[in-house]
Amino acid sequence: MSFSILGTGSAVPEYVLTNEQLTTMVDTSDEWITSRTGIKRRHIMTTESMTELTVKAAKLALEDANVAADELDLIICATMRGDYITPSQACVIQKELGAHCPAFDVNGACSGFIYALDVADGFFARKRVKKALVVGFDNLSAMTDWTDRNTCVLFGDGGGALVLGEGDGLKTINVEAFGNTDLIYAPRGESTSPMNKREMGRPVLHMNGAEVYKFAVSSMVRLIDRAITDAGLTQDDIDLVIPHQANYRIIKSAEEKLHIDKSKYVCNIAEYGNTSAGCLPIAIDEVNRTGRVKRGDNIVLCAFGSGLTTGVCVIRWDK
Ligand code: UT7
Repeated sequence: MSFSILGTGSAVPEYVLTNEQLTTMVDTSDEWITSRTGIKRRHIMTTESMTELTVKAAKLALEDANVAADELDLIICATMRGDYITPSQACVIQKELGAHCPAFDVNGACSGFIYALDVADGFFARKRVKKALVVGFDNLSAMTDWTDRNTCVLFGDGGGALVLGEGDGLKTINVEAFGNTDLIYAPRGESTSPMNKREMGRPVLHMNGAEVYKFAVSSMVRLIDRAITDAGLTQDDIDLVIPHQANYRIIKSAEEKLHIDKSKYVCNIAEYGNTSAGCLPIAIDEVNRTGRVKRGDNIVLCAFGSGLTTGVCVIRWDK
């Protein structure tokens, strides 16, 4: 026994930062950002907290699933940092929803949402839960160096949530990690200890874009190809591919190498940029609410990111 998707929700901050506006902050241009990444705009948190936005996404998903908060048996939030160091963002969401169930965060960086789905799958397999809420949300604007044009043009804030119920919608799921601390990382920041003598580094994101790009393209092709085989399907059986939204050129490059019709790839990077663990649930909510996904469709989710990590799964849409 595994899970099927019962409902979806998402939430992004109101404030929109355009490429044009970024040209007043760093030496860049709309032309460079658009042609190199596909990003036109990103939503950035100004007055909203992660709590407000994650709870909004969770409530929309519960409503879509027609499930009450007190029916939840599990809450997992995929994020690199919640509003608090402790408690977990999942516990904060639980409090705001009035739910009564185990709740914890998973940090799988940009692959975090698939890591969280894999953990949830284990709870369903052990028959420990009947209904679960899985949230993916990141607030990368709070850990971005806004003077670094190599990174600050790429990221946005936002995320979404899925309500899962017992079912056999999940066909296959796999996660990987490659123990790398050089290609994408953000140091923890200062220690409060007066005894600490160690330099902690600025708590901002550093990335070797070109190397991550190569990892991303080769991983996406390999992971999607293998997951479809593991699910007992062929590329013709796939109705939608929802990839991590890091760069539209990465998605295009995978498209060229796989044999899945180009119309089946979901790309909303122009509007949101890279929201890390938020990318997949935002896109899933979009295809649900716009009617782009239909009952019985086979969808592939694929992500990669800091760690280096990857995640992939194939899910039949049972809603
Ligand atoms: O979600 C986590 C996973 N992250 C990713 O998957 C990101 C993967 N990497 C990428 O998407 C791309 O490597 C980037 C979008 C980050 C960079 O694109 P690129 O085509 O690889 O550019 P580049 O780093 O090779 O830089 C090319 C040039 C450089 O100038 P020079 O040295 O050739 O004179 C950069 O300094 O573009 C310059 N550049 C910029 N120019 C204008 C870098 N950032 C900017 C900018 N505006 N914002």
